[in-house]
Amino acid sequence: MISATTKSLLRSAARVRVSTVASTALKCSTTSFIRHLATANTSSTNYGHVYNPNAQKVSLANLDTFARRHIGPTPANVQEMLKTLGYSDLDEFLTSAIPNHVLIKRKLSVSPAQGYTESEMIEHLQKLAAKNKIVKSFIGKGYAGTKLPAVIQRNLLESPEWYTSYTPYQPEISQGRLESLLNFQTMVSSLTGLPMANASLLDEGTAAAEAMSLSFHNMKGKKKVYVIDTNLHPQTVNVLKSRAGNIGVEIVELPLSTEEGITELNKIIKTVCGGLVQYPGTDGSIHNFTKVGEILHSHKVLFAMACDILALTVLKPPSEFGADIALGTTQRFGVPFGYGGPHAAYFSTTMKYSRKIPGRIVGVSKDRLGQPALRLALQTREQHIKREKATSNICTAQALLANISANYAVYHGPAGLKNIASRVYGFTTLLAKYIGQTEHQVLNDKWFDTLTVKLSGVSADDILAQALSKYNINLFKVDESTVSLSLDETVETADLVNLIELFTGKQVTLEADTELPTIPEELIRTDEILTHEVFNTHHSETAMLRYLHLLQSKDLSLANSMIPLGSCTMKLNATVEMQTLSMPGFTQIHPFAPIDQAQGYKELISEFEKDLNDITGFDATTNMPNSGAQGEYTGLSLIREYHKSRGEYEARNICLIPVSAHGTNPASAAMCGLKVVPVKCLDDGSIDLVDLQEKAELHAANLCSIMITYPSTYGLFEPGIKKAIDLVHANGGLVYLDGANMNAQVGLTSPGDLGADVCHLNIHKTFALSHGGGGPGQAPVCVKEHLKPFLPGHTFNADVTKPDSIQAVNSAPYGSASVIPVSYSYIKMLGANALPYVSAVAMLNANYMVKKLQPYYSILFVGKSTPHCAHEFILDLREFKAQGIEAIDIAKRLQDYGFHAPTMSFPVAGTLMIEPTESENLAELDRFVESLIKIRSEIDAYINGDKSGMVLKNAPHSMQDVVATPQEEWEARGYTREQAAYPLPWLKNNKCWPTVSRLDDTYGDMNLICTCPTVEEIAGE
Ligand SMILES: Cc1ncc(COP(=O)(O)O)c(C=O)c1O
Repeated sequence: MISATTKSLLRSAARVRVSTVASTALKCSTTSFIRHLATANTSSTNYGHVYNPNAQKVSLANLDTFARRHIGPTPANVQEMLKTLGYSDLDEFLTSAIPNHVLIKRKLSVSPAQGYTESEMIEHLQKLAAKNKIVKSFIGKGYAGTKLPAVIQRNLLESPEWYTSYTPYQPEISQGRLESLLNFQTMVSSLTGLPMANASLLDEGTAAAEAMSLSFHNMKGKKKVYVIDTNLHPQTVNVLKSRAGNIGVEIVELPLSTEEGITELNKIIKTVCGGLVQYPGTDGSIHNFTKVGEILHSHKVLFAMACDILALTVLKPPSEFGADIALGTTQRFGVPFGYGGPHAAYFSTTMKYSRKIPGRIVGVSKDRLGQPALRLALQTREQHIKREKATSNICTAQALLANISANYAVYHGPAGLKNIASRVYGFTTLLAKYIGQTEHQVLNDKWFDTLTVKLSGVSADDILAQALSKYNINLFKVDESTVSLSLDETVETADLVNLIELFTGKQVTLEADTELPTIPEELIRTDEILTHEVFNTHHSETAMLRYLHLLQSKDLSLANSMIPLGSCTMKLNATVEMQTLSMPGFTQIHPFAPIDQAQGYKELISEFEKDLNDITGFDATTNMPNSGAQGEYTGLSLIREYHKSRGEYEARNICLIPVSAHGTNPASAAMCGLKVVPVKCLDDGSIDLVDLQEKAELHAANLCSIMITYPSTYGLFEPGIKKAIDLVHANGGLVYLDGANMNAQVGLTSPGDLGADVCHLNIHKTFALSHGGGGPGQAPVCVKEHLKPFLPGHTFNADVTKPDSIQAVNSAPYGSASVIPVSYSYIKMLGANALPYVSAVAMLNANYMVKKLQPYYSILFVGKSTPHCAHEFILDLREFKAQGIEAIDIAKRLQDYGFHAPTMSFPVAGTLMIEPTESENLAELDRFVESLIKIRSEIDAYINGDKSGMVLKNAPHSMQDVVATPQEEWEARGYTREQAAYPLPWLKNNKCWPTVSRLDDTYGDMNLICTCPTVEEIAGE
């Protein structure tokens, strides 16, 4: 029990900041105290130098410095903004905004301290990329070489309109990428033969884990065995085991393509919640799994198949074997290896499970004017609503990569894809024929692209070495005398000739017009694929270019205007950084290539981890998790493993989570088998330390951890953070810090300095990786020394695997490795000197906006326990609700002003959370502020019964609405067309038009269509 005195001490600890900063005299003396202690220089004067070292004099130094390109406000702007806030120096502002014991300003050791210039960075990256050896990798295991069509590379992958957009929660300004994701779903649905598909998952391994989890929960957790075929990709097995262990599922591996396996399955079937097979198997073999499906179905449990997407264009689809779930990766549809990612995984089901499918789903609905329009359907924000009961924690997925793969299918069309697949099959079959003439033996009697070869007279090591030294080819070593190889779209005749020579010792000549063997009838797919018009139209480059351009022109991205999304940090994704995604030295490396072929990556990743350790104040980092939510899952798994090592795994199963936490926090905790206990927040938004203490003490024997977002999800540097951390530690729990808000901390404070044990970083937020329209993400997890031994290992990577490592959490050892150079170059171009200014200016931008908006709107929490917000703030719109205006009206109206809405109704319903980031310049901040002020006058008009206020309710106004609404109808609205479309003068010069009117969400969820609609469906028949 907590005594009354302790309660009052705790509550006053939370309030102490107000009284501290309320006194100006005290504020000044605190400033000099902090300055004295601080080692990082964050003064305004120094900003001038760091921002542009060449401003005063031109010297021998290079001129293409980066800080002034990345940070929006100039030193003069900064002074002007400080003046608005009543300060004269940046240091003074920081000292006032961040509690003294939190503002540590430990000098970072990121080198070079002054940052690389842009050209120096490119040179450095090219040197690193050159240290990776580009080898033709026929290693397979779920990763295949592919040709990314140049028209898609240049106009999608390398186009900021595509890569800087946000997850399409605001459908009226996202119809382009929604259409593209719907194409992805339609493609997956057509190829797998299952009607419901989602808009991508993270990778094949986690998609398999989602299938297991869906099957387990479908049986309400009563059947605890999940059966997998022995022929699954090894990394998938690892990810499955990692996930299964945490929720109490037992993985049983059986040879399901054999009689023996079927007999064993029948023996245990009563305990089984579902099963998964690989098609074709990891050894390349192809089996008819109908029997497995029948047995599983006879006990009402789910049958899942992990399938090769290219094979499905020519082989029988999983639907023909009775699969309930099909999953896999679409990597080989145009997305390079990238040393493991990012690539889009797919997941499809029968209609019966449409409401249980994990991840984001695009659906067809209609807009206010009755026009067909797309939006995210069903469980879009389910983690926020269902919390720990959510179907999965997937939030960010792989939208950009799903769009590449979808457009690869659009460009090639069904005939083109079948040609690619048939050619791959033909090459493989020719090679098998030649190998069949030797003493070596092809072990699989059927194949699509993969052969497993038992060697005769030569060891696997020898043949691998020969393949590499003589032909620059990588094969896969199965065991000492067996290798496998998987051919792909990139294989050329010369490669085939080399492979034949490698296995037969004979040189053959193959004529270019040699007809290739065709797929046997017993295996071949007979139904039509990809029949929708979109896959049968854009096959010339002109048509493709125009289609891509049409789609991107419907969407708002950072190329149009600020995207002020609280908690999402939509900052500049600099071109130099993003260029790394097209450097062959980074893109062409197979994730399981021998480590000595990836020395450039090794060097880069180890330096990146060193910098992240420095920035976070931690001791070690893993780069395996490929999304924030996946980072949460990983961090919590590490904590669980720590308790396990002390014999407390079962006992410590409670995770405290403040009610303000992001929905993925409780969802991830549940995935780790933890029981979530919510912790209250006070009226001022800070954690209720009394409630925390009570709960920590009550559950002391079972306390596993707490998950805290800092600065809090309310955008505040809560003073009670250290107290909260101490309370949890004192009761035996460890502290997980959700790093979504790290952009307010870099160089100023850090999770490690605050005393946390582990954090994840969303590099797709703080560290400048683009958001890609909903992915890719990547979330390094940084830990203190005591968690380091447990960092996840990987079957194919000895570097990351330690004796006590937990199982792999993702398919590839470094997750989406090819995006790491983006964040690496962000850190390296800013250097130790400029990084703290990123956080400082992010905070200044936010507080400047607060000051400007305060006369017009209530700003939640600011001025209560803290005088300032951190890097984001909450616009409280709840006062207007009684008069009929809701947050959504303002969010939609902002689209008419050319802006993306801020984060809506998170973390507080009825509010908008605004995060401008440091990258926006003063003029853009002012434009946004001016828009909100104008909207305030529209709110007043509505409240006062002035018809012109209806402009909010009808927002956003699409071009069709403005141009084509008949005059009489328009006149009834009470505002002009010009007021609708051009509420401020500058919009006439620069406006991003919503392409549809406000979406009808309910209609879409009730009339679920999640593949490209037919003409009849569009017509509403
Ligand atoms: C506070 C917070 N935590 C976790 C996440 C999850 O990150 P991701 O979307 O990369 O899975 C988010 C994402 O928006 C977030 O805002």
